[in-house]
Amino acid sequence: MIRVLFVCLGNICRSPMAEAIFRHEVRLLQLEEKITVDSAGTAGWHQGKPPHEGTRDQLDRYAISYEGMQGRQVNQDDFTNFDYIIAMDDSNMEDLQAEFQLSDNVYVAKLMHFVEEPKEINVPDPYYTGNFDYTYELVTEACEQLLTFILKKHHIDKGE
Ligand code: 4NP
Repeated sequence: MIRVLFVCLGNICRSPMAEAIFRHEVRLLQLEEKITVDSAGTAGWHQGKPPHEGTRDQLDRYAISYEGMQGRQVNQDDFTNFDYIIAMDDSNMEDLQAEFQLSDNVYVAKLMHFVEEPKEINVPDPYYTGNFDYTYELVTEACEQLLTFILKKHHIDKGE
């Protein structure tokens, strides 16, 4: 099993959006048995909360499920329990590096790293920008590229 964790600050806007979109893409390829997805925040402010309304609106618009998703905070066990920890921006990366021991067994990177010629190197936070459409567009493209990267790395064929 390949385990992917998306991380942002609050775990209500960007990382739950990435979690839901990535899981949707995994389902479309019928790879649920091979890849699991979760998300968490570097801060624990929204523990137990559903995704932000703006994120839910975007996911509803594209009929992508976020059923049962709840905010939680990143913890040290995540660095053992996941193979990929994918942060939304530099600030998330700095927080992860400052607060946790990163092991060689986990691949920690920013989401936009997987996009060739990205429009942004950090996923803008719609909690502050209010622009959930733009973040959705960036996250969707980047999740597709991340999935392609993972499938290639683990020698998994699409539609296998
Ligand atoms: P997120 O956005 O990191 O994309 O979930 C935020 C959500 C909540 C807060 C900040 C950013 N907040 O300050 O509560």
